Amino acid sequence: MPLREVLQFPDKRLARVSEPIGKISEQIRQLAADMLEVMYDEPGIGLAAPQLGEAIRLIVVDTEWPEDGAERNPLVLMNPEIVEADGSITWSEGCLSVPDLQADVERSERVTLAAKDLDGKALEIRAEGLQAVCFQHEIDHLDGLLFIDRISRLKREMYVRKRKKQLRQDQLEAG
Ligand code: NI
Repeated sequence: MPLREVLQFPDKRLARVSEPIGKISEQIRQLAADMLEVMYDEPGIGLAAPQLGEAIRLIVVDTEWPEDGAERNPLVLMNPEIVEADGSITWSEGCLSVPDLQADVERSERVTLAAKDLDGKALEIRAEGLQAVCFQHEIDHLDGLLFIDRISRLKREMYVRKRKKQLRQDQLEAG
């Protein structure tokens, strides 16, 4: 089966606020498996369900870069929430849903995340640096936010213009 498509800005589905997950169903498990497949294929270090068009509060994260062939150990997190945050860090972020852009974003440097895993077990994870940034970026997706909503207005507008121009050009070439 082909991999599921990652929605890209300005797809409006990326701007929806996602619903909390109640019961863990076979559909949720399948979605998590699809998300991991897409994340590792790209490759990326995180993915949120809305990026595959599903408005539910589910993210996957793996910020480790193991040796070739080593087993991966991703985090699959349901209803993730930042319950504590401190410090501040600026990170150059990118996103599979925001093609051709990397930009500095200010985030909390250290966070504590509360979530449930796919067995419904409550987790609390203390993270800093890249993993803390990734948690905040993915949870933003669940709230309908992209990292370009956290950069300067000027930079955002420049990107939006460039992106629209590119899309028009793609359309002309396809037509
Ligand atoms: Ni993203």
